[in-house]
Amino acid sequence: MKFKPLLTSLCVTLPLFAVSMDSLAAKVTLKLAHNLDQSHVVHQALDKMAKDLKEKSNGELNLRIYPSSQMGGPRETVEMVQNNALEMTKASASELEPFVSEFAIFSLPYLFTDEDHFKRVLYGPIGEQITAKTTDSGFKIIASYVAGTRSFYTKKPVHSPEDLKGLKIRVVPTPTTNKSMELLGASPVPIPFGEVYTAIQQGVIDGAENNIPSYYQTRHVEVAKFYTMDERVSVPDYLVISNNAWNKLSKEQQELLMQASKDSEVFQQKLWDEEVIRSKAESEKLGATFIEVDKKPFRDALAPIYDDFAKDPNLSKVMDAIKAEEQK
Ligand code: GCU
Repeated sequence: MKFKPLLTSLCVTLPLFAVSMDSLAAKVTLKLAHNLDQSHVVHQALDKMAKDLKEKSNGELNLRIYPSSQMGGPRETVEMVQNNALEMTKASASELEPFVSEFAIFSLPYLFTDEDHFKRVLYGPIGEQITAKTTDSGFKIIASYVAGTRSFYTKKPVHSPEDLKGLKIRVVPTPTTNKSMELLGASPVPIPFGEVYTAIQQGVIDGAENNIPSYYQTRHVEVAKFYTMDERVSVPDYLVISNNAWNKLSKEQQELLMQASKDSEVFQQKLWDEEVIRSKAESEKLGATFIEVDKKPFRDALAPIYDDFAKDPNLSKVMDAIKAEEQK
């Protein structure tokens, strides 16, 4: 319907019609859906990427972003990408585990000695080897984003694993996250990100676990006032494009998209640390208490997961490579 007036006017001015068809044919719009709030730094990085792409491609390559779970959570959007109903999405390592088992490595508690170690893995050959494997599942990863560390937040204060006993904790369900909760004496409850607020509010669960920006931006802080700084895992986010959408792009467009996605990684990293500080301060203003804890009891309780990983040939290889990276 919308195109009718345009077509009518193009048909009466034939030379213009030919020119417009050329540019219409070359113009690409990639739809990108994700589950984060617009204030999240990953959204900001994607937004900037869209602007850069538009400018550098002279309006030929466009991203149309649908934030805040408008098209569902990562489980739905990744499936849409696989079925070519959507070109791009964002998913965390945990959410990609069903496709490539090595993403589980990011759920291994206390694996990284510090942020530099984590970034060397994420942006180095180990990260590249893992992400390259998704093409067999119908999509390609074109950017990796840091997501700090995930810790528990609850309605009642948690100072040690003892305090987690019997609590119902929302997780992104994976074998490792489920086992982690069980080892800590808590019950893992799989609930979509967008439904966690109500679940805590209504007492369906006692808490969840996430990084500080997500704790604040989802306003979970309003219903779970205690954030325990156990900093167990660093689970990155990834930018995903379907093989189909990627293959339809021209060589130049692929290069532009790749460059813009690499630039977005740098931009996102720059914003992240500041965002953690800001979200923490804002959460405190809303009445949150951040509890410093001795991490050793958490580390000890979760140690059996290392034995499980050691028994898996693929995971043990990645685990050893990551440990070797620590030395560098
Ligand atoms: C973080 C992460 C998201 C993930 C979410 C969740 O916010 O950045 O990618 O979906 O946690 O726990 O569901």
